[in-house]
Amino acid sequence: MKFGYFDDRNREYVITQPDTPLPWINYLGCQVYFGIISNTAGGYSFYRDARLRRLTRYRYNNAPFDLGGRYVYLRDRESGQFWSPSWQPTRRELENYSCRHGMGYTVIGSTLGGIEAHTRYFVPLDENLEVWQLTVTNRRATKAQISAFSSIEFCLWDAQDDATNFQRNFNTGQVEVEQGVIYHKTEYRERRDHFAYFACSEPLAGFDTQREAFLGRYRGWDSPAAVQAGQLTNSIAHGWAPMGAHQVNLDLAPGETRQIVFLLGYHENPVDQKFDPPGSQTINKKLVKPTIAKYLNPLEADAAFERLRQYWDSLLGIFQVSTPDIHTDRMVNIWNAYQCMATFNMSRSASFYESGIGRGLGFRDSNQDLLGFVHMAPARARERILDLAATQLPTGGAYHQYQPLTKRGNNDIGGGFNDDPHWLIVGVSAYLKETGDWSILDEPVPYDNEPGSEQPLYNHLQRSFSYTLARLGPHGLPLIGRADWNDCLNLNCFSDTPGQSFQTTTNKDGKVAESVFIAGLFVHAGRELAAIASRRGLAAEASHYIGETEKMLAVIREYGWDGEWFLRAYDDFGAKIGSKDCDEGKIFIESNGFCVLAGIGLEDGTALKAMDATREHLATKHGIVVQQPAYSRYYLNLGEISSYPPGYKENAGIFCHVNPWVMIGEARLGRGDAAHDYYSRINPSAREEIGELHRCEPYVYAQMIAGKDAPTFGEAKNSWLTGTAAWNYYAIAQWILGIRTTLDGLQIAPVIPGNWPGFTATRIFRGVTYKISIERQGEGNRIALTVDGKPIEGNIVAPPADGRKEVTIKGILS
Ligand code: BGC
Ligand code: NOJ
Repeated sequence: MKFGYFDDRNREYVITQPDTPLPWINYLGCQVYFGIISNTAGGYSFYRDARLRRLTRYRYNNAPFDLGGRYVYLRDRESGQFWSPSWQPTRRELENYSCRHGMGYTVIGSTLGGIEAHTRYFVPLDENLEVWQLTVTNRRATKAQISAFSSIEFCLWDAQDDATNFQRNFNTGQVEVEQGVIYHKTEYRERRDHFAYFACSEPLAGFDTQREAFLGRYRGWDSPAAVQAGQLTNSIAHGWAPMGAHQVNLDLAPGETRQIVFLLGYHENPVDQKFDPPGSQTINKKLVKPTIAKYLNPLEADAAFERLRQYWDSLLGIFQVSTPDIHTDRMVNIWNAYQCMATFNMSRSASFYESGIGRGLGFRDSNQDLLGFVHMAPARARERILDLAATQLPTGGAYHQYQPLTKRGNNDIGGGFNDDPHWLIVGVSAYLKETGDWSILDEPVPYDNEPGSEQPLYNHLQRSFSYTLARLGPHGLPLIGRADWNDCLNLNCFSDTPGQSFQTTTNKDGKVAESVFIAGLFVHAGRELAAIASRRGLAAEASHYIGETEKMLAVIREYGWDGEWFLRAYDDFGAKIGSKDCDEGKIFIESNGFCVLAGIGLEDGTALKAMDATREHLATKHGIVVQQPAYSRYYLNLGEISSYPPGYKENAGIFCHVNPWVMIGEARLGRGDAAHDYYSRINPSAREEIGELHRCEPYVYAQMIAGKDAPTFGEAKNSWLTGTAAWNYYAIAQWILGIRTTLDGLQIAPVIPGNWPGFTATRIFRGVTYKISIERQGEGNRIALTVDGKPIEGNIVAPPADGRKEVTIKGILS
């Protein structure tokens, strides 16, 4: 069953039924002002940091789901009937409901009783505000008297405190209302220099800023008393729950359309110009008024929307493909790339599932996100790399997360995840391959943000690598630390206290538990670093890296191979994890996927065996599960992984993030059918038809699909913010379609399904537009390339020496 359809030409997903199995969301904003918005207008907004600068409230895990949002109400002044054109929060049955989620915007609307209304929500580029354009049309044969109401509930900035510290915040809320603009200024009187505003383009028939005045006692957003009465009360909030609502009365002739623009924005004043007049307690609004005036003009709002469209056209234009598979095209050309932007911006902090309170930007997450994002906005990728590296510790280790607002490592979450440092090498390498900007390696970057500790970025990579060498275990494999990529394989935690956090509880200073996954990652990162070093003319250093990776390879062969697949780890007792000798958790995806991705075992047949074993034991019709058999009980020596019921999350769920490692592994083995088949099993567009089971949005990846041990096998959860976005994009673009960035140029090495006659692609790479067409003439993956009509040796197309800006590549597969 489907709940809507893809409108590929407009790059929109159109939801035609409001009661989707879960809120199906979109993101507004792509720079520093952000919001999430559901298909029924639920969601919240923030500036830079979903925890520390939250503008509006949202109620997670509410019943019904998804309460708190950018709500519009309409009321027919003749009948007294009122409703929300976005269905929530009134949930009155509507005609022609639709929600169009597009690239950085959402349009939600419907018709009821001859009144058609829709609202377009978006964040203009380079502004700290969101625009709501409400259009109301009278489709009746008679005139209509309609009141339109806007509403939002302000958050008192720190979302965590806002949700918990009521003894304080029931007293602090403050607003000002001037010329119809509602200014939210809680704590502005003291140390804050920022405020929010909510403005309306039309003359007001009323406003409200105190929630209880608007809703009435013991009433909810589904039936606000003031809307029902048809008149807002001009309340001014003192403490309690400041909110914003406007009322505009419309008299519409038959066929008449009116547009109202609402703006919700954030503004920071210079500290010495906070008040106007100086010395008063009144917000200085001079600096923000021109912006408000500008965007309240519908023509300016339309122009800003047009700029946003062009921005996305140009970003997505960097890589476009045309293949025999609609789901591949749709995800590569539109939605997967778009999701990569959201994961880059938000990391794992703010979605319907991530409350924006618990997590900043993850070190490993953000580095991996670069794989799917770097081609779209290399300058922002560069900045992110430098920010991440600045949180690295002098040991080469890393804070696991940092807060985007402060750019400081988050001490509450700590560090000691021993895979973290290597992802910096992977991220930087992806950046260098895309851009050829070697200057980044010479940028001075501090450790732990400590002034005076600056070293060239390159030095950070060296320390990342050495970090593991200084932390090898009894078998010579890397010690796992708190955990590796799998946050829940906590081999040094031994937690027996209910409620204790597996992620932050003090661990054993583990000197025994080792990770084969980190070993594979070390080999991969070591080779990337060696290539970078030799490009910098550091031959001896490069051979040191190669030497160390060779040693690690030998250790993996000796102690990391279980006979049919790669082992996963050794626990604190030195016992095997992910071995045929185990009762449960005999085989894991991470070590098998990543080792083969790294090219380990290609020459001696172990890679082939590992991928075959993965297929046999872990692959399901809905994707590849983390491990088998699932852990059926809690194991003190394994930690959080065994805390999840079988089939969910890290305990044998289909963790979509790691599926692409196997796709790449299959591609490295030359098995295009298998690689693309795995790709399709978790491709959200390909799962659209099973929406009732899948439940999450069909246009973006979810972190997890319940595994075969779960009663809800096939059900997705935790959509949007997941490393799945970048890795799937990278796997399909660079390994299956095989259009791969390298330090030397663009490599063309497709490993596509046997029955594909070929495909075409356009790729803008280092300022050159490559028009690529691939034709299959035989069954294999051997490729013969011509570049602008001339055959070339090998499969790497070097940047044109003569400065040509367009290059045609033809590839024949045989
Ligand atoms: C989840 C992991 C997540 C970790 C850190 C765990 O509960 O299962 O997927 O990475 O928390 O937030
Ligand atoms: C989600 C985390 O964000 C990511 O860092 C981790 O690798 C996966 N969970 C697996 O545990």
